[in-house]
Amino acid sequence: MANNIQSIRGMHDILPDSTPLWQHFEKIVRTLLGNYGYNEIRMPLVEQTDLFKRAVGEVTDIVEKEMYILENRKDSEGSEPFSMALRPEGTAGCVRAGIQAGLIFNQQQRLWYAGPMFRAERPQKGRYRQFTQIGVETFGFAGPDIDAELIAISARLWKQLGLRNIHLEINSLGTLEARQAYRQLLVDYFSDQQELLDEDSKRRLHTNPLRILDSKNPAMRELVAAAPNLHEHLDTESAEHFSQLQSLLDGMGIPYRLNPRLVRGLDYYSRTVFEWVTDELGSQGTVCAGGRYDGLVEQLGGRPTPACGFAMGVERLILLLETQNIPTPATAPDLFMIMAGDKAIQAGLGFAEQLRDNLPDLRLVSNCGGGNFKTQMKRADKSGAAFALILGENEIERGEIGLKPLRTKGEQINLPFSSLTAHLSQLLENAKQH
Ligand code: HAM
Repeated sequence: MANNIQSIRGMHDILPDSTPLWQHFEKIVRTLLGNYGYNEIRMPLVEQTDLFKRAVGEVTDIVEKEMYILENRKDSEGSEPFSMALRPEGTAGCVRAGIQAGLIFNQQQRLWYAGPMFRAERPQKGRYRQFTQIGVETFGFAGPDIDAELIAISARLWKQLGLRNIHLEINSLGTLEARQAYRQLLVDYFSDQQELLDEDSKRRLHTNPLRILDSKNPAMRELVAAAPNLHEHLDTESAEHFSQLQSLLDGMGIPYRLNPRLVRGLDYYSRTVFEWVTDELGSQGTVCAGGRYDGLVEQLGGRPTPACGFAMGVERLILLLETQNIPTPATAPDLFMIMAGDKAIQAGLGFAEQLRDNLPDLRLVSNCGGGNFKTQMKRADKSGAAFALILGENEIERGEIGLKPLRTKGEQINLPFSSLTAHLSQLLENAKQH
């Protein structure tokens, strides 16, 4: 017998056991973002590889090592073949789409998107090759008020989900120019101590020295701790922007920790960067991250436009909901309809449709695939339904239907067809109030 084909390492099915939690999560996020005035945008999963090289940066891990590049294709007859990649993140595509559709120039936009991203990383708990992000991007807002709003949205989301123990870290990277000057200071500092650098840092010294500050290698800790501090080299405007952000966060009662070593792994950031981190998920504890990227729109061919956003890792947040045992609201059916005999099936399926017409919120599962009364009762029980509706030939003759509670004590009652809708409507109403 042939071997079963398995899913690709780092790419997972989300099975029916888990989807209620995902749906609960998605519903809360969708409602929250709508309430804050954000509109959904949907971009393709595949873009030109050049988009990510230009936006995320040629010398980032994502572009250097983690992109899934597809076979080169032509766009149309006669066009040159070009390289396409599965998107490793959503910001680049969102900016591309915004410029292309004329949504960004001279406008204020609050946008969000959700969907799979792809990175060829080494899989482990909380780190996958296909993972889901919900991203939020804003365009046309230069002041720190929008940075504060974005952070407030995420803080409110944790609260609405019932999540605890997620901490906010913030930093400012300054303007591009200030960062260039600081970068030179870092190169000078680390070049003087080359022999203490690990291999990764040696490689980054001349390509992306800020990333050395982010090194997780304990042997590098002392060297990094003594490196020039970014905050002391911020340009005046960025320092002012950052201090206003802190005072807005204070005003909203959102606690944070200043982390001058927070540099992020994507090149497009300037000024504010932030991460929400938990210590309950091992080494993959960043559940949400983002910041300002004022230069990116221009870099991708648009007019200069301030921009700020973040993205959360949905798998990590789902893991955290599970770790913290946060219950998912029940999704069991209200009713399971048992139909014994051909006449009952004939009448019952029509009857079920009438009930759905009259009670659009009703969660009703009809027995399909036959089975005697006992088998159907077992299925009703397994479905988690609150009540069984019982229709047999006797009931049909009497013009009645049985209603039996499955989760509470109580006897079956028989209701005339004519009063069933009213009775069920009352039951649903009562259930909602509990
Ligand atoms: P990022 O930090 O690369 O930023 O990813 C954001 C979040 O996606 C991470 O904090 C993490 O929760 C989740 N994530 C990233 N990689 C993986 C993975 N391999 N497996 C599971 N979860 C993962 C960005 O992508 C930026 N586009 C965020 C942004 C939006 N900045 C401004 N706007």
